[in-house]
Amino acid sequence: MKRIAMFTSGGDAPGMNACIRAVVRTAAYHNIEVLGITYGYDGMINDEFITLVPRDVAGTIHHGGTILKTARSKRFLTREGRETAYANLQKHGVEGIVAIGGDGTFRGACDLIAECDIPVIGIPGTIDNDLEGTDFTIGYDTAINTIIQIVDKIRDTAESHKRLFIVEVMGKDAGLIALRSGIGAGAEAILIPEQPTDVSQMMEQFEKGRKDKSSYIIIVAEGDQSGGSYQIAGQIERDFPQYDTRISILGHIQRGGSPTCMDRVLASRLGLAAVEALRDGHRSAMVGIIHWDIEFTPLDKAVKHIRQPNPHLIRVLEILSA
Ligand code: F6P
Repeated sequence: MKRIAMFTSGGDAPGMNACIRAVVRTAAYHNIEVLGITYGYDGMINDEFITLVPRDVAGTIHHGGTILKTARSKRFLTREGRETAYANLQKHGVEGIVAIGGDGTFRGACDLIAECDIPVIGIPGTIDNDLEGTDFTIGYDTAINTIIQIVDKIRDTAESHKRLFIVEVMGKDAGLIALRSGIGAGAEAILIPEQPTDVSQMMEQFEKGRKDKSSYIIIVAEGDQSGGSYQIAGQIERDFPQYDTRISILGHIQRGGSPTCMDRVLASRLGLAAVEALRDGHRSAMVGIIHWDIEFTPLDKAVKHIRQPNPHLIRVLEILSA
């Protein structure tokens, strides 16, 4: 393999730059040329290919975002868009691709492999941690650390005013961000899309619980079935007016910032493994980490989000949040 291309796609995630750096440097180590495609699949269609050499990625490991930029491409969903993208890949002599992103990115990669016959190795890069075949995705650790730092601050003001705060975090389909950050922040309750939400029951639990509590933090995943933070707050204000309720929606602050050491190391390992997988002849796989070892999962399986919340974490929450 002489020349590969790489891109980031979908929502950016802290650690993507560390991963780009690892791909470029591993490829250089194996005498493989790397082309970076900017703005994901859109850049592939628009012919935005740039040569990347090790010095281009110097000083990037600690930066959030992605130096290759990213996009959620609508045009790649069309046959016409994909045909243009494939023609550009062929024009640049691309023999293999490293795709960094989440489920949308890998769905696109599955089309690419089927229709264009170019090998693709996917690297899980999303703060959501919602892919099969890896214990952690790049960006997840940084996002949950960002959240607990903010919730610690919210706790200070909640305690001072004896308030109940509803804190909404990202995760439109998955509650993994909410669950782990909620435990880390010592939340009183965590509401996630994977489990039915009964606000009345949650409030009854609070009523039956310790009377000396001077604050309550409820972490809500944005995809929770209850209809979101405002809906929950409305119900609490109506049925439990004795609670002084406030809402804080954290939004995109969760996706930015300098990656944690864990994300940098994860990204470095996965980037290295992806290049070596292409070199070794893998044609369609996501490289992930399971029990701290590198593992490969077929791309079409990685996108099937069937991960249920870890029952051990649910139990920790139930016992410790009382
Ligand atoms: O896929 C990652 C994610 O951060 C989700 O948790 C969130 O729902 C979504 O991206 C937001 O995407 P956008 O930045 O396109 O609004």
